[in-house]
Amino acid sequence: MTNWHLTVDLAVVGTGVAGLTAALRAAELGLRVVAVTKTTVEDGNTRWAQGGVAVVLPGTGDSVEAHVADTLAAGAGLCDEVAVRAILAAGPAAVSVLRARGAVFDGSAGELERTREGGHRAFRVIHAAGDATGAEIERALAGATRGGQLPLLEGRSVTDVLRDDTGRVAGLALLGDYLGDGWGAGVLRTRAVLLATGGLGQLYAVSTNVDGATGDGLALALRAGAMTADLEFVQFHPTVLHVGPGSRGRQPLVTEAIRGEGAVLLDITGSPVMTGVHPLGALAPRDVVAAAITSRMAQTGTDHVLLDATHLGAAVLRRRFPTVHAACMALGVDPARAPIPVAPAAHYQCGGVVTDTSGRTTVPGLYAAGEVARTGLHGANRLASNSLLEGLVMGARAAEAVAADLAVSQRPGPPLPPCERRPVAARDAVQRSMSAHAGIGRDAAGLAAASAVARATLRRLRTPRDAENAGLTLAAAAVLAAASARTESRGCHLRTDHPRTAARWRRSITVVLDDAGAPVVAQPMLVGGVA
Ligand code: SIN
Repeated sequence: MTNWHLTVDLAVVGTGVAGLTAALRAAELGLRVVAVTKTTVEDGNTRWAQGGVAVVLPGTGDSVEAHVADTLAAGAGLCDEVAVRAILAAGPAAVSVLRARGAVFDGSAGELERTREGGHRAFRVIHAAGDATGAEIERALAGATRGGQLPLLEGRSVTDVLRDDTGRVAGLALLGDYLGDGWGAGVLRTRAVLLATGGLGQLYAVSTNVDGATGDGLALALRAGAMTADLEFVQFHPTVLHVGPGSRGRQPLVTEAIRGEGAVLLDITGSPVMTGVHPLGALAPRDVVAAAITSRMAQTGTDHVLLDATHLGAAVLRRRFPTVHAACMALGVDPARAPIPVAPAAHYQCGGVVTDTSGRTTVPGLYAAGEVARTGLHGANRLASNSLLEGLVMGARAAEAVAADLAVSQRPGPPLPPCERRPVAARDAVQRSMSAHAGIGRDAAGLAAASAVARATLRRLRTPRDAENAGLTLAAAAVLAAASARTESRGCHLRTDHPRTAARWRRSITVVLDDAGAPVVAQPMLVGGVA
C-alpha cells in the first residue's frame, strides 16, 4: 500500500449537511481537520432535499414538546425519547448558526415562512428558495468551507477505517487518482474519524438519492466493528415523480410540502387515496401514506397514483415549488392544469450506526452523524424534515465530542492493514432484488432470495466503483438480516407474512459483523439507548 503522508486530528468522511457542519465546527475548535469525499463537496444528497428543516421557532405558538410528540408518533414506538428531546431542543440554536453561516430561508428575517409536512400537527417546516432548501444549505456550508480554507480531499474513496492493535481508530485507507495516472491506494493517519456519508437509497432500483448513496458509511462502520441498529427501516417517500414505466436510478422528488399546501392524492380512477386511512389524511406520517399508495396501486393495477395540486395555480406553483414545477414541465405535465403522476421510491435510512447524542459510536475514535447514524431520533419511521435538523445538530455535537475526547485520549498506534478482498455483488442484481423483495411489503421467502443475491464472491478493490459495490453489497446484506429478523410490521417495515405490530418487538434490532465478516443480528437493544 502506498503511504500517503497527512496526519490530522479528525477526518470527516462525507460533505453533506452533517459532514460540513462537523468539519466547520471542528476547525473552530482548533482541530486539524480534513473533509474527505468520493466526489466533490457539492455533490451529495443534501442539495436535493426539498421540503425543509423542521424546527420550533420562538413566538410561533408551537413547542418543542409538540414536535417531540409528533416525532414519537411517526417513529411507531421505536424512538429513543431522550435523544428525540435532546436533538429537537437544540434545533433553534443550530438553525441560527446556519443562518449566521449565510443560509437564507424564505420569509423576512423577523418571521420565516413555515409549512407542514406529513406527521406534523403544526406549521414548523422552514424552507429556502421555495422547495430548494437542501441546495441553499449546501451552498452556504460549502461556501463557508471553501472560503475558510478547510482542507478538502475530493475524489477520494474511503475503503476502510483503520484501527491500531488496541482497536482504536488510527486512519483511513483511501483510493484516489493521486498522480493523475490511475487509481492508487493511500493511508490518511488520523486520531478520529467522523462518518457523515449519508444513506443507502441506491440499494434500490428507484430512489430519490444521488448515485453515491451506496451505504458506504454503514459498511465502513460495520467493518470497523461498530454496532448498527434499526436497519430494516428504509423509508420510501410517497410522492416521487413517476417519469414512466421501468425508470431506474434517482428520480425527482415531489415534496410533501405540496400536500402541506393542500394538494390531494387520488388514484388513477380519481378516488381519494387517503380518505379514512388516518386522521391526518394526506398529511399522515410518511410510512402510512406510502403504504396506502402502494396498496391502492395494487388494487387498481397501476404503477402510480396522482397528486392534484391544480388548486395552487401556476403562479404559486412556480414561486413556491420551482423545483417540482420544473421537473413536471420537463415531463410534459403542467401541474397547474393536470395532476402529477407519483409513486413511492426509496428515500431515507432511518437506522444506521448506533451513536449516543454526541455522535460517539461503539468503536473508540469513530463517530457518526446525519443519515448514516442511528441516534434514536427516527425510530421506525422518520418524521418529515427532521433529518436536516439532525444533521445540523449532530454534526456540531460530534465535532465537540471529538475535541473533548482527543483532549484526554492517547494517540493511536500504527494502523493495522485492512483486509484486501471482500464480497462484491453485481450492483444491478442487488438493486433489482432489493426493490422486488425488500421494499414496501416484504416476506420471508423474498428476503431470503434477496439475501442470496447479496452473498457474493470475494474480490480485490481496484477502483472506486469496486469500493462502492462492496459497500452496497454489505449494506444490503445488513438491511436484509435485520428485515428477516423482525417478524412483525412496524413503521417503514411492512411484512406481508407478519402484517401486525407485535408488542414484544418494541425494541431495536442490532446488527454487527461476525468473525467471517457477515452481518448477524446481535442482542436486542431496548428502546431508550445504546445497549
Ligand atoms: C420532502 O420534501 O418531501 C422531503 C423532506 C424529507 O425527506 O424530510
